[in-house]
Amino acid sequence: MNTKPIAKSEILKELQEYQNQDYKYESGRILGSMCTQAHPFAKEVFIKFLDSNLGDAGLFQGTKHIEDEAIKTIGSFLGNPEVYGNIVTGGTEANLMAMRGARNLAINEKGIKNGEIIVPESAHFSFKKAQDMLGLKVIHAPLDEEYRTSTDFVQDNINKNTVAIVGVAGSTELGVIDPIQELSDISTDKNIHLHVDAAFGGFVIPFLKDLGYHFPDFDFTLPGVDSMTIDPHKMGLAPIPAGCILFKDNKCLDAMAVDTPYLTYKQQSTIVGTRLGASSAAIFALMKYLGREGYAKLAQECMDNTNFLAKGLKDLGYDLVMEPKLNIIGFNHPQLSTEELADELEKRDWRVSMSKCPEAVRIIVMRHIKHENILDLLSDLKDIKNNL
Ligand SMILES: Cc1ncc(COP(=O)(O)O)c(C=O)c1O
Repeated sequence: MNTKPIAKSEILKELQEYQNQDYKYESGRILGSMCTQAHPFAKEVFIKFLDSNLGDAGLFQGTKHIEDEAIKTIGSFLGNPEVYGNIVTGGTEANLMAMRGARNLAINEKGIKNGEIIVPESAHFSFKKAQDMLGLKVIHAPLDEEYRTSTDFVQDNINKNTVAIVGVAGSTELGVIDPIQELSDISTDKNIHLHVDAAFGGFVIPFLKDLGYHFPDFDFTLPGVDSMTIDPHKMGLAPIPAGCILFKDNKCLDAMAVDTPYLTYKQQSTIVGTRLGASSAAIFALMKYLGREGYAKLAQECMDNTNFLAKGLKDLGYDLVMEPKLNIIGFNHPQLSTEELADELEKRDWRVSMSKCPEAVRIIVMRHIKHENILDLLSDLKDIKNNL
């Protein structure tokens, strides 16, 4: 550390130089990110609440109220406003909390010591962290021809140690929605915790439904769903970090509570201690500001661009892994390997990512990807096709 203070202007200049090295969402060239530019109003609110610490909620009772209201609002478009939970740092922390809650409840109520969870092959890698951090054994259910979890496998692999089953609503790689209704039936029948990871789909599916899109039920309207992850910092347009964990009742939160004698609230269920009130305030404000209509408009725009890109890809002779369900597309070149295609795109200054299951170039059509960016992308893809 420098001994003498350095002038603000000099520090800001240095920071600017580093920031210039970052890719910018507004370039429209970041194709593989589930995050995007946060909404300007949400950023404005976020800054106002930077000092609020929900880890010591008794000191910040107004901000705690905001968090509770945000939870109810999110619950209201996921089938139940009377849910319990927290605004957390993201989908990883939300999934860890869900698994920790289910595990602890299973220890308390069923005496299960060596807990197992069954997750789809398509599940996010946060469940690998749950395996490592919570000592859970993770069993991967294979996918059917539409890349959805095999409910027969789930049914057949539940045993006396199973503490949770997981379904995904908007898979990380392809935006696939698992058969949550069938998982709910299994969960009710076997009395096993069902967690739905809607980190991506949670801020899309309900609003597309408002517009008349058809999706099967995937949320707390189903009796077997015990907890859900939904990320405001993905399609919710909230500033990073903002995830959300919701529980149908507070049994799981109670099962995770530890004593916090030196704080104003005497127990805490979240993984982190000191935590941002700003994330809660920003998503609370933004949901009011945009309303269901605002989120529906956003979802529609992303879907229109997705469908336009999907058609363009097919017209050029690229192979789509499947018709997109949400605003995520996986595709391949008929001759090049996925890696070769990704390299060609990177050479042309596109930032792409690849899915593994199945292998494909993956594009998440977030709101920073505009129609004109898609035209440029299709033109480059045509060039790649013609110059092979
Ligand atoms: C379905 C799903 N769950 C969880 C996560 C983890 O979210 P985060 O990166 O915010 O921790 C992701 C991230 O892409 C995701 O797609």
